[in-house]
Order: sequence, then structure tokens, then C-alpha cells
Amino acid sequence: MTSPDSQRTLRVLHLEDSELDHALTLAQLKRGGLDVKMQRIDSEPEFLRALEQDWDAIISDYNLPGFSGLVALDLLKASGRDIPFLLLSGEIGEDAAVEAMRNGSADYLPKNNMARLVPALLHAVDANETRRAHLRADRELGESKQRLRELAQHLQTSIEAERAAIAREIHDDVGGSLSALNFDLAWIARHSDSPAVRQRVASALETLTLAIEASQRVMHNLRPAILEQGLVAALQWMSARFERRTGLACRFSSDRETLDLPPGVPLVAYRTAQEALTNVTKHALATRVSIELTVAAGTLTLEVSDNGRGLDRDDLAKERSFGIRGLHERASTVGGWVDLSSGAGGTTLILSVPLQAAEVAAGMAPSHEQELASAQVNPSNWGDL
Ligand SMILES: Nc1ncnc2c1ncn2[C@@H]1O[C@H](COP(=O)(O)OP(=O)(O)OP(=O)(O)O)[C@@H](O)[C@H]1O
Ligand SMILES: [Mg+2]
Repeated sequence: MTSPDSQRTLRVLHLEDSELDHALTLAQLKRGGLDVKMQRIDSEPEFLRALEQDWDAIISDYNLPGFSGLVALDLLKASGRDIPFLLLSGEIGEDAAVEAMRNGSADYLPKNNMARLVPALLHAVDANETRRAHLRADRELGESKQRLRELAQHLQTSIEAERAAIAREIHDDVGGSLSALNFDLAWIARHSDSPAVRQRVASALETLTLAIEASQRVMHNLRPAILEQGLVAALQWMSARFERRTGLACRFSSDRETLDLPPGVPLVAYRTAQEALTNVTKHALATRVSIELTVAAGTLTLEVSDNGRGLDRDDLAKERSFGIRGLHERASTVGGWVDLSSGAGGTTLILSVPLQAAEVAAGMAPSHEQELASAQVNPSNWGDL
């Protein structure tokens, strides 16, 4: 036990009606080597006033005229102050001692056994400090986790905004220039009689077509314009494209054809399906995938299942893997969450979003004016995604 005695003066409030007992107690503490500053009081109003000051401990008699140790303990609890409380009294009987301890008294000491006083006081002060240090550490850890969560969410939103801005630039600058080039090359082809020139132009147009397709592909990956046609259509399209690209059977089903979702939710669901499918190609060794979209009891559920090798805790703890961690953060931006289950039959990833919570999350978004100002870069404002 580290004793605070050698480091500082202990401030002790003493609830005691006998001047003599107070002097004896003080002498005992000093004999025990404690540097102690003690104040004696013996009434409720004095006690309440004293509680406004800082104390390292309270030592209290059990019976006081018009007041009692147990009442003082209750008042201490009600005040919310975190000060160790020790009962130092004549014989009070086992029941009363137990009740006092149950009510939060750190210890009970009979006045005829003062030898225990110093160790008991030091122990109570020490235990209280340790407990407070734990509470402080827990609180700081909680705050730091919360800050990290907010940062992660902020990063997700910034990444989407950045992607949308790049997609827009590609669309306006690169796309615009390519279209103008296309137009000019077609004009040259129409106005030239030279077969060599027309052949060159035809070849240039072919290259240009590839460049236009490439820029559209990049744009799509940056910002899924298909979402403007609704989440159901977008996921249908995603699963068909996945099947074509990978050769894995991918089945999409939904219990509705269209969904009216709060802003932000479709993009979260879309990115979740995208990451789940990427994981299937990268890790699952599956032959079949299914994507299911349902709304039941006001909750949107997106389920992506594969029949691959499954995953375990170690997979999810990989230091350099951020896909699934990012999905948890993404889901929380709209008040939802992600569950993963895995077994011999493969892996299932489920995104759940209570739609009312998502409405609230959307309501906490920037004000209308701020939205208008940021509409140029905020993808969740595009086409009411
Ligand atoms: N469908 C799946 N089948 C089997 N294992 C999977 C599946 N999805 C994920 N895993 C395992 O879980 C790990 C973590 O996935 P996560 O998506 O978080 O990261 P990652 O895909 O490795 O990297 P990235 O950060 O690029 O997404 C993967 O490395 C893989 O071992
Ligand atoms: Mg991944």
C-alpha cells in the first residue's frame, strides 16, 4: 500500500461531540506518523457547510446529540462527494456496524481499539484514490474512444466528399474535353477527302472511345451515379456486374422494387455491399454469393452471404485490414450497425439500419443553408442519395 502520509497533509473532518475523544483521536493519528489537519464538528448544519470544502477523509462518531453517523453518511452520499467515511465509535453492535458498511462507510472502528485507526484511515484514503484514478482512466479512455469514432466517421464523410468532387471534376473537365475532341475529330473525318487522314481519325476516335469509357468507369467507382435510380436498381446492377466480372453466381433479391430511404442510407448500403463483394473475391474462395435487401419493422436489412471458407476472430483483428472496421463506422453515421456471422457454410455480413434512427441522424446533419453551401461536394446531397 502506498501511504499518502509522507507526501502530504491529510485533511480530516471529525464528527465528534466529545472534545476529549477528538484530542485522543488526533494524538493517535500523530503518533502514527501522520501529518494531519483536523477539524471537529458535531451538528448537521456544520457538517453540510463542511462538505463544501475538500477533505481526504471523514471520521465520525456513531451517536451525536441530535445527529448521527448514519445520517451524516446519507447526507454525504446525497451530496455526491466522494470522500472516504470511517465510523469511530463506542460499541455499536454488529448490526449497526454492518448497516453502516452497507451504506458506504469505508470501515468501522471501536474507540477502545485505536491501534487500527491509522492503518484503516490510510487504507481508506488509498483505496479511494485508486478507485478515483480508475474512474478517471475509464472516463479518459471512453472520451478518447469517442473522439476516435468521430474522427473515423469524419474521415468516411470526407472521403465520400472528396470522391464526389473528383468525380465531378472528371465529368466536367476531362469528360467535357473528351466530348469536344470527339466532336472535332468527327468534323475532321467529315471534311477530309484524304483516306489516310480519315483512317487516322477513325483510329483516334477508337482510342477516344476507350478514354471516355475509362473516365466513366473511374467516375462511377468514385461516385455511384447509378444510386440516383434507387438502391434496389443500384444493387441489382452491382450484382449483375459482379457476376459478369468474376464468374461467381451472384443472386440479388429484394422484397420491394423501390424504397424511400432517409438521405445517406443508400450510399452506406451501397458501399457496404461493395466492400462485402470485394471481400468475397479477395478472401472467400466462394462459388456463390447472394445479396438480400429487406425492410421489416422499420429496419432496413442488407445481407450479403457467400458459401466460402468463412472467417474467424483473428481475421477481423488484422492490423492492416480496415474494410470491415470502416463498415462499422459507416453504419453508425446513419444510426445502424454491422453484424458478421461465419461458419462452415460461409460468411454472412448484415447491415441493419433502423430507418427512424437514420432520419434522426440525417436531421442532425448541417442546416439547410450549410447543406446548400456544401451541396457541391457532399455526395449525400446528390440526387437525394
Ligand atoms: N467473405 C469473407 N470470407 C472469408 N474471409 C473474409 C471475408 N471477408 C473478410 N474476410 C477476412 O477478414 C479479414 C478482414 O477483412 P477486411 O475487409 O476488414 O480487410 P481486408 O479485406 O483484408 O483489407 P481492406 O482494408 O482492403 O478491406 C480479411 O483479411 C479476411 O481474412
Ligand atoms: Mg476488405
